[in-house]
Amino acid sequence: MYAKAAKIIKSAERCVVFTGAGISVESGIPPFRGENGLWNKYDPMIFDIQYFGMNTRQSWEVFRTIFYEVFGEVKPNTAHYILAQMEKRQLVKAVITQNVDNLHTQAGSKNVHEFHGSLKTLVCLGCKTSFKVSDIDLHYLPPVCSRCGGILKPDVVFFGEVIPEPAGTHSFNEITRADCFILIGTTGTVAPANIIPGAAKSNGASIIEINPFPSEYTSSVTDIFIREKASVAMEKLMEEIDKKSV
Ligand code: APR
Repeated sequence: MYAKAAKIIKSAERCVVFTGAGISVESGIPPFRGENGLWNKYDPMIFDIQYFGMNTRQSWEVFRTIFYEVFGEVKPNTAHYILAQMEKRQLVKAVITQNVDNLHTQAGSKNVHEFHGSLKTLVCLGCKTSFKVSDIDLHYLPPVCSRCGGILKPDVVFFGEVIPEPAGTHSFNEITRADCFILIGTTGTVAPANIIPGAAKSNGASIIEINPFPSEYTSSVTDIFIREKASVAMEKLMEEIDKKSV
């Protein structure tokens, strides 16, 4: 399995990685679904843009607890670092991530498409000005814009919002550009991100999936299913890639 996956990656013209919350679990960030999933404790409604508009303070109190109290503390794990190495070695050309934790960039990956935005900035609902979260005091909720007094929201895609550009276009372009996708730690349940792997497969891409549990892709899209945690699987994959091919 690892040998086959390594061979596909090394022979690919353009290998792209597609990651979800699972790759950050070993950094201490809970996933949204499954064991210890955030949606087991909190209502996903807090991430609905209409709900946020009507329950701004309550939503912000939850965001501060589940995201901002750890944001900046959590560190990339082995899987993030190996992906950054693979990019340096031209084995991987881009990372499309659904995650908003900034860990791929922190680990050194350069070509990262943050499909759902990022926690590192807040945006004003009034004048659309963007602020670094490190410049905003989150003791006072909801945070307000210093320019127009509008409400600031996390610069991440809420249900009902559009995908940020250029991340969206760059990600969808990989459907016809990439001939290999490595899916790591995603249930494949949230549109429109979740259509990318299947569409790439229909265009002839080989699909390698790393996840300790089956996902929406496993029985329909995935060619090689590596049933393993991200960091363990990435280490084994790199060992295979580094083996001299006889
Ligand atoms: N290594 C790899 N995968 C793991 C690990 C691990 N150590 N631990 C858990 N997983 C897998 C789970 O089996 C699951 O398939 O990670 C996946 C996490 O699934 P979700 O929480 O649904 O995360 P994701 O697919 O990224 O969710 C997509 O949903 O709520 C929205 O915007 C949010 O971006 C998120 C989107």
